[in-house]
Amino acid sequence: MNTALKSDACAASRLSVAPMMDWTDRHCRYLHRLLSRHALLYTEMVTAPALVRGGAVHLLDFSPREHPVALQLGGSDPEELAAAARLGQAAGYDEINLNCGCPSDRVQSGVFGAVLMRDPGRVADCVAAMREAVEVEVTVKCRIGVDDQNPEEVLPEFLSRVGAAGCGRFIIHARKAWLQGLSPKENRDIPPLDYDLVQRMRGMFSGLHLSVNGGIVSLDQAERFLEAGLDGVMVGRAAYHDPASMLAQADRRIFGAGEDADAVAVARAMLPYIEAHLAAGGKLGQVTRHMLGLFAGRPGARHWRRILSEGAHRPGAGPELVEQALEPVLQAA
Ligand SMILES: Cc1cc2nc3c(=O)[nH]c(=O)nc-3n(C[C@H](O)[C@H](O)[C@H](O)COP(=O)(O)O)c2cc1C
Repeated sequence: MNTALKSDACAASRLSVAPMMDWTDRHCRYLHRLLSRHALLYTEMVTAPALVRGGAVHLLDFSPREHPVALQLGGSDPEELAAAARLGQAAGYDEINLNCGCPSDRVQSGVFGAVLMRDPGRVADCVAAMREAVEVEVTVKCRIGVDDQNPEEVLPEFLSRVGAAGCGRFIIHARKAWLQGLSPKENRDIPPLDYDLVQRMRGMFSGLHLSVNGGIVSLDQAERFLEAGLDGVMVGRAAYHDPASMLAQADRRIFGAGEDADAVAVARAMLPYIEAHLAAGGKLGQVTRHMLGLFAGRPGARHWRRILSEGAHRPGAGPELVEQALEPVLQAA
């Protein structure tokens, strides 16, 4: 069991990087960890059936350097989720999170994700079973409601019932999911954000730890939410597309500990990781695709992206491609 680097996920959740399928894999999280020592990092969603019935425990592999890191599970069967949470704890995760926010069709048909906003009793059963199964913290990521639900009623009811079952920390994506007629992508943009409601929940549920998620694009904005009393801020797309702006100053500004990371140094610090990945039979592009946004908005960024994205798939491409892609960035500076 990987306990050596266990850390306090709750403290780290002042700023977290959201679970994002196909994006926040272990390579992406390794990069993000080099940018911030303290921010909490989430895995992509892993379904409990895949782990428990499918035996896909390789999905849990991660580097000990990623701590603090939370495993997000998808599912709606209490026993299966408890078994999956146990596997997650044994693999060394610092937190187990239950997905009650994801609207995709595939996920709807398996009765998990945002559709669970309709069934707080079931979510409470799931959380109670997971709490019973593991010592690490069990958290829930949810929406403010789905479809024609009234968030003003549904969200407090959800927080109260699931909170009573033992979930002390929630991440609230501050918009509804519309389960009919919108794609998952549209469901991240079209339903309007209601930060005020999340803020009001902060006032109503003083015993719960509440993080806000959705549409947060800068550290300034994150700081304002924390100043306004929210316990944590979760950032998704902005952290992926422009990781340096979101994370390089986070240790100093959000956690009051540590120095700003330098994106060039971070790119170079990825080299030993890339070498090890290639030596283990991995492909260069699997790592470098997550690095494309590292210099977003900086001179030379376009060349950096182009050299990395075009070169990574050429036969024999190796870590030297990263140095090559850095040249235009260094020259422009
Ligand atoms: C590519 C992608 C994949 C996502 N996958 C998941 C997921 O697996 N689990 C989840 O709870 N949310 C998922 N989300 C939603 C994000 O976690 C987050 O709630 C959403 O993007 C809103 O935050 P943002 O505006 O900061 O991006 C995903 C989002 C994106 C863009």
